[in-house]
Amino acid sequence: MCPGLFFCIRFFFIGFNLLSFALLSDIARAYAEERNDGKTLILYYSRSGNTRAASEVLQRELRADMVEIKDCGNRGPGFGIVMGMLKTILNLNTDTDPATVDLAPYKTVIVAAPIWAAKFGLAMRSFVERNRFDGKRVIIFITADVFIEEKYQKKHRELIEASGGTVAGYFQVQATDLVDGKKKPRSRETIIAETIKLIPHIKQAIAGAP
Ligand SMILES: Cc1cc2nc3c(=O)[nH]c(=O)nc-3n(C[C@H](O)[C@H](O)[C@H](O)COP(=O)(O)O)c2cc1C
Repeated sequence: MCPGLFFCIRFFFIGFNLLSFALLSDIARAYAEERNDGKTLILYYSRSGNTRAASEVLQRELRADMVEIKDCGNRGPGFGIVMGMLKTILNLNTDTDPATVDLAPYKTVIVAAPIWAAKFGLAMRSFVERNRFDGKRVIIFITADVFIEEKYQKKHRELIEASGGTVAGYFQVQATDLVDGKKKPRSRETIIAETIKLIPHIKQAIAGAP
């Protein structure tokens, strides 16, 4: 065999082996992640898109499954949102689509919602109240105009616990800035950037680290 051809074949096999090794390491890492942390599901409700944008980033970065919880009622501007607010204040529920989700394959569920009158947005509060989260680690992720204080966070945790979940973390992203005493909506890019900053902490919460 001519030496040129011999070296070509040799380099081909070395390259092939390196590629196989890289692929196998990737597969092994994915299995290890699955074994340690289990699968994660993001359940989100979003009326005007902030929580959706944040949830999409979480899904991509955490390689999680994701389900949108929709409000079957009209929550458009005017009558729809006034009714939504009224139901929220009176602690009434709304029907959601889906009404229920099979949580069996998941160890961790991220409940992502906007805040309405210091509570989870109507559709997500209704979904949480009408479903069971027994045996699930639940991470609460909310977007809100202002920072949600501990006394309200406690109520959100209690809501999850009343449905059987164990709260493994609480994260929030603000949707407005206070400029000269006035609320100024943050851009989607800022909301996404703030969400990305939380990713390492959310990963820690998923893994159960302090
Ligand atoms: C009916 C209603 C009530 C709200 N109540 C609050 C509130 O009590 N506190 C707060 O910080 N933000 C409140 N917000 C602002 C939203 O929580 C915030 O804009 C959120 O990012 C919207 O998320 P979304 O775009 O995913 O629907 C309220 C918004 C709506 C529509």
